[in-house]
Amino acid sequence: MRKKIILTGDRPTGKLHIGHYIGSLRNRVAMQNSGDYETFIMIADQQALTDNARDPEKIRNSLFQVALDYLSVGIDPAKSTVFVQSQIPALSELTMHYLNLVTVSRLQRNPTVKAEIQQKNFVQSIPAGFLIYPVSQAADITAFKATTVPVGDDQEPMLEQTREIVRTFNHVYGQDILVEPEGVFPPKGEGRLPGLDGNAKMSKSLGNAIYLSDDAETLEKKVMSMYTDPLHIKVTDPGHIEGNTVFTYLDAFDDDHEKVAELKAQYQAGGLGDMKIKRYLNEVLQAKFAPIRQRRAEFEKQPEVVYKMLAEGSQKANAVAEQTLKEVRDAMGINYFK
Ligand code: TRP
Repeated sequence: MRKKIILTGDRPTGKLHIGHYIGSLRNRVAMQNSGDYETFIMIADQQALTDNARDPEKIRNSLFQVALDYLSVGIDPAKSTVFVQSQIPALSELTMHYLNLVTVSRLQRNPTVKAEIQQKNFVQSIPAGFLIYPVSQAADITAFKATTVPVGDDQEPMLEQTREIVRTFNHVYGQDILVEPEGVFPPKGEGRLPGLDGNAKMSKSLGNAIYLSDDAETLEKKVMSMYTDPLHIKVTDPGHIEGNTVFTYLDAFDDDHEKVAELKAQYQAGGLGDMKIKRYLNEVLQAKFAPIRQRRAEFEKQPEVVYKMLAEGSQKANAVAEQTLKEVRDAMGINYFK
């Protein structure tokens, strides 16, 4: 049987945080190390530019930061092909061909894009490139004949759009060239880490994130400022676990489940202070992220090594995408001069 192929990626619009770690990074590393897949990981700078076209500097800087984040959590260029979207011209051409198979009203119905348009307050001035990014994402996925796309829940509409394009393309051009991908989503309730303030989402714009690059002191300060249980006023008061961010983080990061269960019982009974529990969470997080932080610092000192990984990965990815593009052109009958 042919090996399954993974394609996934991130928009480089800032550094990655521990929510990304829980939601996708740790899973990618596990899949990479399983040896069951050929893995492609893409830094989606072109997609990031669809709503940041006037600030390319931000994307350029974030590209390097995201590459550092990947390397620090254990993405291994010997096992995974890490590449940069804009360096693969075939992706743009595939996007052009696919656009003819998609209607504008279909694009306007994409729930994730709709939510982003609201959130970014585009109103009537939606960049055309932004509206069509799901089609470009279909190009990303199909160029590598990806079978498996590990992503967050908000990416399901992109996968649905991709499958539609694959079916339409194969139907119209009469050949089984493109492959329908399957999304792999985090288990229910485990994919999303709340922010420090208890908000359901950890994000840069909400200012409630812990970054993989945060130093020990910053991490500690953030943990000590976390949202807990507003009704837990005196140490002796019985506390609530539900919606208590400190315990949500302990569930996500502490491998000692028995200890967490004990602490929960103690907290609920009364007699366990917030300071104490935060200090314990700080220890757990420091232990988890110190090695990651250390690796990050090592690679940060060697930008040439990081860029070399991206250049080599992009070269390899380019050859694969070129091959798919050739098959697509053949199927469409537009390779006129061969
Ligand atoms: N849309 C993804 C995000 O918001 C990034 C992305 C671009 C992607 N192309 C992709 C993810 C292809 C998976 C597959 O982070």
